[in-house]
Amino acid sequence: MDTRHRIAVMASGNGSNFEAIAQACTDGRINAEVVLCVCDCPGAGVIERAARLGVPVLVVAPRDFGSKAAYENMLADRLDAEKVELVCLAGYMRIVGPTLLDRYEGRIINIHPSLLPAFPGAHAIADALAYGVKVYGVTIHYVDAGIDSGRIIAQAAVPYEGNDADELEPMIHHTEHRLYVDTINRILNDK
Ligand code: GRF
Repeated sequence: MDTRHRIAVMASGNGSNFEAIAQACTDGRINAEVVLCVCDCPGAGVIERAARLGVPVLVVAPRDFGSKAAYENMLADRLDAEKVELVCLAGYMRIVGPTLLDRYEGRIINIHPSLLPAFPGAHAIADALAYGVKVYGVTIHYVDAGIDSGRIIAQAAVPYEGNDADELEPMIHHTEHRLYVDTINRILNDK
């Protein structure tokens, strides 16, 4: 019997965090299987990554549903059907509504590229660069009804004194991949 935990990843974009998680599940650094990748953005890079890694992908267009509640009930039904224990948002560019939050309360986590509560929102790295901070970072938190406001689970700092986004972004993504893998494994092992 497969005793690994069952997790899902939801993403809208490139999918480098998805790939880091899926690889870590394959090589045993996370004691889990990614049983579903949800992508709400047809054409996003994460879809090709999931196909390459053999992870089932559900590509959805939320606007095809009558309401956000209908969309999220469909998602929760699918997560239930897959017996998902933990939902990992990884660049999912949509606010999770009350329907999914209620049905997966305490079981949805997100990764954000700043040291929250500094720089919430969709442009965290650019906002922090514009502010001129000297220590950037990554936060993993539970998802609640707000924007990047849920209880913090883990953080890691990325010291950087330059002002070049092309140099900084790979440093942050590298830290994200390591911290997300470690944190997911820790959460699952504590269950
Ligand atoms: C990451 O920076 C993550 O922190 C943010 O969205 C980005 C997703 O990157 N929420 P990728 O699609 O995983 O490469």
